[in-house]
Amino acid sequence: MRGLGELKEKIVSLEADLGLRVEELDNEKAVEAFRIEYLGRKGRVSQLFKTLPEFDVNERAQAGKLLNELKEKASSALNIRKGELSAASIKRRVERDRVDLTLPGIYHRVGHLHLLTRVQQEIESIFLRMGFSVASGPEIEDEYYNFEALNIPKDHPARDEWDTFYIDDTYLLRPHTSPVQIRVMKDSDPPVRIICPGRCYRRDNQDATHSPVFHQVELLWVEKGLSLANLKYMIELFVYEFFGEECEMRLSGDFFPFTEPSVQVHIRVPGSSEWLEIMGAGMVDPIVLAEVGYDEEQVNGFAFGLGIERMAMLRYGIEDIRTFLGNDLRFITQF
Ligand code: PHE
Repeated sequence: MRGLGELKEKIVSLEADLGLRVEELDNEKAVEAFRIEYLGRKGRVSQLFKTLPEFDVNERAQAGKLLNELKEKASSALNIRKGELSAASIKRRVERDRVDLTLPGIYHRVGHLHLLTRVQQEIESIFLRMGFSVASGPEIEDEYYNFEALNIPKDHPARDEWDTFYIDDTYLLRPHTSPVQIRVMKDSDPPVRIICPGRCYRRDNQDATHSPVFHQVELLWVEKGLSLANLKYMIELFVYEFFGEECEMRLSGDFFPFTEPSVQVHIRVPGSSEWLEIMGAGMVDPIVLAEVGYDEEQVNGFAFGLGIERMAMLRYGIEDIRTFLGNDLRFITQF
């Protein structure tokens, strides 16, 4: 026969054990393992239930009650522990995933177009508004378009300035954008109103104002009845728009085989005493008009060619043309 006294002792020790062990359970798996050990079918509490038949009939009910209380106690202690662990794990997750909205964001550098591209686009937009369209031609140009069609015969001394990097006997890197004039006129009937921006190459040693690679914008307007006065007016519009109304401008005589008369355009920016050349220009030579198949008695035209680097240097006070190609972010990001 089992006695209640012995059972109570066992219960006290089991309860003590429960109190100690539950505290140490640090994850839900351990809680489950302990539940099986304690309350499972073969667990320690169940073992005691199995001894009930061995009690005296009078004490059996009391013994069963005590065991049930123990079972309840254990089960509720384990549930409480499980709840604590899950709350702690949620708290940890919240801590880990917390976003501090007051922290400074991650800075992404946003690029922008190179100054030369921007200046080119600005020049294009000025002339697009005046009704010109943008044309382009190859950088590897044929001698015919680069010279003969522009009234620069073989062996003529005028060729020297533009005689540059030959690919073979016929092709060379274009030294100016004027051959695009020829290509456009050969392709279309007058009136022609175009600008041609593009890269050019010259046999120049690199220094503060020369570069073997640079950019030009060519302008060509061919129509009936154009005069040098119209050309001057167009250039003035451009200069005042690009450099500002306070800028002074003057023309002086020059020579280009493909224009007659030819002029050089100078500007003087406010506060400076120096006149600076910004472009070559002139009335398209009738020989050139005839060469492309136009009736030089019926139409005439004018053209100019300007250097984009030169425009940017004057407007932004850049002293060395080499900085454009230097790929130095300290320079590039300033504009
Ligand atoms: N092509 C000339 C140069 O590069 C500039 C120019 C263009 C002059 C058009 C007159 C007319 O020097």
